Amino acid sequence: MVVHFDVAVIGAGAAGMMAASVAGQRGLRVVLIDHAKKLAEKIRISGGGRCNFTNIGTTAQNFISQNPHFCRSALSAYTPQDFLRLVNAYGIAWHEKHKGQLFCDDSSESIIQLLRQECAKGNVSWRMPCAVQAIQKTDSGYQLATDGGAIACEQLVIATGGMALPQVGATDFALRVARQFGLKVVEPRPALVPLTFDASSWKPFVPLSGVSAEVMLSNQTKPRVQFLEDLLFTHRGLSGPGILQISSYWQPGQSICINLLPEQDLGQQLVAAKKGNRQQLDNYLATFLPRRLVEQWLNAMQILPAGWEQKKVADMGDKALLQLGQALQSWTLFPTGTAGYKKAEVMRGGVDTNELNQKTMAVKTHPNLYFIGEAVDVTGWLGGYNFQWAWASAVACGRAL
Ligand code: FDA
Repeated sequence: MVVHFDVAVIGAGAAGMMAASVAGQRGLRVVLIDHAKKLAEKIRISGGGRCNFTNIGTTAQNFISQNPHFCRSALSAYTPQDFLRLVNAYGIAWHEKHKGQLFCDDSSESIIQLLRQECAKGNVSWRMPCAVQAIQKTDSGYQLATDGGAIACEQLVIATGGMALPQVGATDFALRVARQFGLKVVEPRPALVPLTFDASSWKPFVPLSGVSAEVMLSNQTKPRVQFLEDLLFTHRGLSGPGILQISSYWQPGQSICINLLPEQDLGQQLVAAKKGNRQQLDNYLATFLPRRLVEQWLNAMQILPAGWEQKKVADMGDKALLQLGQALQSWTLFPTGTAGYKKAEVMRGGVDTNELNQKTMAVKTHPNLYFIGEAVDVTGWLGGYNFQWAWASAVACGRAL
């Protein structure tokens, strides 16, 4: 027996639930299908369990895409304030952490419940857990072969996200569907992900594991970006918000640059500090940076001769001090890889935006097929931007269905 719906949405995550609820509340008969046993795991674990559900400063500049303009239309048609109104209507308490990032006060579970209730208002039908084995184009739309039997729909929405965190059910389903319908896919890569180094070159920095500092990070190739964020040393390499941000712009073979002391000119400061300064160099540097970082980092880099710690600032040559400042403020590194999809927060790349209508997310060559959310080649920075894209692309689609 084939069950008929106006719309089938595959993937009941952030974007899928939002699109289904909008379409359902417009009176369409919608079915939402997901293969997971537990609903919306990524929302549940997001923001450390408190879901950084949007960023009030969202603009197109906070996204990476082969077409940086593609996301503008959807983002301006459904803004962070629009989602915030929904959050407020459900009485969900929230706070701004920093840099426009809005988090739930209590638990991300409240965002899942909000979306569930919005779906209920639209009488959305559920098939979960339910895997989709095949999609076939028919004269009147699409037919899906699923674990729960055949489903026919006039319009089909693919909202199965990206490949980050396969351990909670992420798959390449959206990319496979795109290829099935002859659509171009921008090469997917893990993004918002720790960067790793080969074991021998990283060995001198291993004692720094657990140390963090606020630094300025930049990439070396266009588009050039800079992030002032925390950096965290790990056993295998570098992590922390700053590294996650720059990782989305990093490509294999490229370098990244770290200024361990942003917003000052350390070299000049050291030279100026020489006059009458009888402090030891390590004590003086420890007034700027964590002592463990100063000591281990300088030993690992071997910029100064052994025994440098004992030297007094006043006894150092200007050239050596300027070099030291330069080294700490433009540390250039060549990561050898990333920690991969298992540790990534998102997938970069995805369905090529040239294939989609920017106002509706419909496939230009298959007007009844839609891709939304992370499956599309629109990747947000860390800080609530990825959920805002999920909401905005879903609403654009939900209103057009
Ligand atoms: P999402 O991944 O939410 O949903 C896809 C759904 O499709 C899932 O329910 C999955 O089970 C289902 N699915 C997959 N393959 C399927 C198949 N073959 N058949 C059927 N169903 C299938 N962003 C942000 O803005 N703020 C934050 O705080 C965080 N925090 C965060 C933490 C961690 C640890 C991660 C991994 C990610 C984040 N993110 C984030 C990113 C954010 O979670 C992500 O961008 C959105 O969830 C994407 O929404 P989608 O609906 O596109 O995919």
